[in-house]
Amino acid sequence: MIKGTIEQIKHIKNKLGDRVIIPAHHYQVPQIVALADFVGDSYKLALECSRTDSEFIIFCGVNFMAEVANILGKPHQKVLIPDISSGCPLADTIDGETVARVYKKISSLCERQVMPVVYINSSAEVKSFCGEKGGSVCTSSNAAKITEHFLDKGKAVFFSPDFNLGINTARKLQISDEKIVNVKRDSKLETTGNIKSGTLFIWDGSCYVHKEFTLADVESLRGKYPDINIIVHPECDEDVVNLADISSSTQKIYDEIKKAPSGSIWGVGTEYHFVERITREFSDRQIMPLRKSICVDMAKISPNRLLDSLVSVSNYLETKGTLKYEIKVPESFKENAALALKKMIQIVED
Ligand code: 13P
Ligand code: SF4
Repeated sequence: MIKGTIEQIKHIKNKLGDRVIIPAHHYQVPQIVALADFVGDSYKLALECSRTDSEFIIFCGVNFMAEVANILGKPHQKVLIPDISSGCPLADTIDGETVARVYKKISSLCERQVMPVVYINSSAEVKSFCGEKGGSVCTSSNAAKITEHFLDKGKAVFFSPDFNLGINTARKLQISDEKIVNVKRDSKLETTGNIKSGTLFIWDGSCYVHKEFTLADVESLRGKYPDINIIVHPECDEDVVNLADISSSTQKIYDEIKKAPSGSIWGVGTEYHFVERITREFSDRQIMPLRKSICVDMAKISPNRLLDSLVSVSNYLETKGTLKYEIKVPESFKENAALALKKMIQIVED
């Protein structure tokens, strides 16, 4: 059944040629990664999508990533996602109304001008608010650089939605504890710390996949393999990141292990489908997951779903009927969300 599906995907993809492109995030299941035109972390995917001229982008990832491809896309391009229900619970911890409410509260009390920095794992509406206020999007590969950009200008930063990426970034930048304020996700939006003198305000959203990794996981692998290199994603808890040798985006995890010598030993703290795939790809290194933690939303994109999306493009080109699986960011959010995304690209690429 799956074999027939894969052959059909290849056949339609061949027929459509350059008109269609398939980007995939590193967490996609191996069958999808094998069919993708390019694979990457959120930053690499956003950049590559902004550079392609293909008419149809079938994005294999979660919906905020497909939204980014649409926001940065050219007017003639259409973006599809094989399963629109493929969301990100972390992104859902803050919406446009809440980010504006918290920002207003912080801005009214803080002695510095506050700039929003929003993790790419957020809705188009939240990115739009960020762009409207002159802030920037960030990803796990550049959160420190983006945050520092504003702090160096004497601004305070409101970082959302991932608390762990925020606090791990604060540690990297050596921001002292008195300057860090945690904004609680309760109805009253309580904060810890002094808002007036704060420089980094962090929303307390989290990713359930990365919250699973514990200190005990790291210690247990270190106990068994004294020469092990522990590499984790910065969405992991602070104590896990502190005990690891490297914390980085999925692309950097991939690159680090790729350049590592044969025989080296690795413990990896991120999504399991990705760890399983690199274990097979780099079979001469010893690679182990800290534990098997799966992002169920990423796993919703199956070969059957991808085939349906390709069939939808093919039918659309023949009949000009409805294009199923298209993702369209409301025009009202597009312009400002694009500003926040382009700001990130400008800071990183300069
Ligand atoms: P990366 O940008 O590192 O690929 O991370 C995206 C993500 O969703 C991690 O959970
Ligand atoms: Fe969202 Fe976590 Fe899945 Fe990444 S791993 S897409 S942050 S739920």
